[in-house]
Amino acid sequence: MSGVSNAKLWGSMMGLAAVLLVCHARTDFTGLTGPYCATRYRERVCCAGRQDDCSVPIIGTLCYCDDFCRNRTRDEDCCPDYASFCQGIEEPAPNENRDCVHNGKVYYYGNKFKNNCNNCKCSLLDDKPAVLCEENRCLMEQEVIDSINLQNSGWMARNYSEFWGRTLNEGLKLRLGTLNPSQSVYRMNSVRRIYNPDELPVAFDCRIRWSSDITPVHDQGWCAASWAISTVDVASDRFAIMSKGVEKVQLSAQHLISCNNRGQLACNGGYLDRAWLFMRKFGLTDDECYPWLGKNDKCRILRKGKLTDFGCKKRNSYSLRNEPYKVGPAYRLGNETDIMQEIITSGPVQATMRVYQDFFNYESGIYVHSPLFECYQSGYHSVRIIGWGEQPSPINGKPIKFWRIANSWGREWGEDGFFRILRGTNECEIESFVLGIWAKTV
Ligand SMILES: *[C@@H]1O[C@H](CO)[C@@H](O)[C@H](O)[C@H]1NC(C)=O
Ligand SMILES: *[C@@H]1O[C@H](CO)[C@@H](O)[C@H](O)[C@H]1NC(C)=O
Ligand SMILES: *[C@@H]1O[C@H](CO)[C@@H](O)[C@H](O)[C@H]1NC(C)=O
Repeated sequence: MSGVSNAKLWGSMMGLAAVLLVCHARTDFTGLTGPYCATRYRERVCCAGRQDDCSVPIIGTLCYCDDFCRNRTRDEDCCPDYASFCQGIEEPAPNENRDCVHNGKVYYYGNKFKNNCNNCKCSLLDDKPAVLCEENRCLMEQEVIDSINLQNSGWMARNYSEFWGRTLNEGLKLRLGTLNPSQSVYRMNSVRRIYNPDELPVAFDCRIRWSSDITPVHDQGWCAASWAISTVDVASDRFAIMSKGVEKVQLSAQHLISCNNRGQLACNGGYLDRAWLFMRKFGLTDDECYPWLGKNDKCRILRKGKLTDFGCKKRNSYSLRNEPYKVGPAYRLGNETDIMQEIITSGPVQATMRVYQDFFNYESGIYVHSPLFECYQSGYHSVRIIGWGEQPSPINGKPIKFWRIANSWGREWGEDGFFRILRGTNECEIESFVLGIWAKTV
């Protein structure tokens, strides 16, 4: 099957899936009390027969208030208040020997519901009604947000609805995606540059220096591919910068996820050295030719070849080149000033950091991880450093140095998709695994 028809097939499958979701939402409405039908229908008579527009919104979908609900049970697509409102049937009074009350809501014996990331059920424990819940650590927890915001830690935390209801483990498994950086990055050579550290400016931002040459922030979704996204974004920036804007390109992260599969785990993580080696040997195509799917998918282009062999339509942007975009060997940057010197001369660099739970809640400020979270699981994540600066401490007025970094969790997260983190102290190992690259421009 050719790449194009595959993409079409995928597109129509997505369409179908979306339709199925809307028509047959089998969402669990247990525990939701409303009012739903009661908000729309004044009299206690709702709609006769099946009427598709006899519905009201409920948690991202619709529930129905028509006659078809008469013979239905609550967990189908009927509104939770159908029976009580449209039929005037009162909910049975809770039986105190069997039914549970939790956060002011009644759950009948056997009812299941979700409390943040944990599944709960009203059961019996020692013959008494009890709500039994899983005990996973959740990615977003009110206590975590409060403890950060009360701590005066120099940054603010918030609740992200995208992350709410997920476990910490899911966050670490699916929102990061960089495998053992020490094994990967220490294999690379470091470079020596001659420069005077005292001449480096106090602040620098690639977006100001190279404005439109810097790729925007992406969203990896629930696909642990920061290894691929940070790699193609740093490479894309450098193609634009080194060609002085002639080769402005958004390279394809999906190309890496799907085709750089030897020893790599696609949406379950990857090694940076293998990503760079693949790009050095075979090159990559751009995002338009190999668009983002955000999932593991069979490689649908040749490993070797020209851009036109990859099944990408010949376009204007290829008038300059028909070779895939290739790079020289990636190199390591040893310390803070070496990293700064590299950024100011060649553009953004790739860095890997250790992510603790509190980082998911970052909203603004200069991030420093809280030791409180060192006892929980953590993971490695790759990001793109685009600059640095200083800011007076709110406590004693002394300047606090920071890196400015592009994350890959969309623009809703952090400071417009970016974050700042303490600089010069190897915070979260951010200065341990920093890489630069040469783009092979035409
Ligand atoms: C509900 O079920 C009864 C019989 O059990 C039937 O007579 C009635 O027509 C059904 N109503 C609807 C709306 O399906
Ligand atoms: C976080 O956001 C979700 C979804 O918007 C919401 O349901 C939840 O109550 C919020 N949690 C906190 C702690 O504010
Ligand atoms: C980093 O290393 C270079 C030599 O490679 C040295 O000149 C510079 O002072 C070092 N910077 C820091 C912050 O240690």
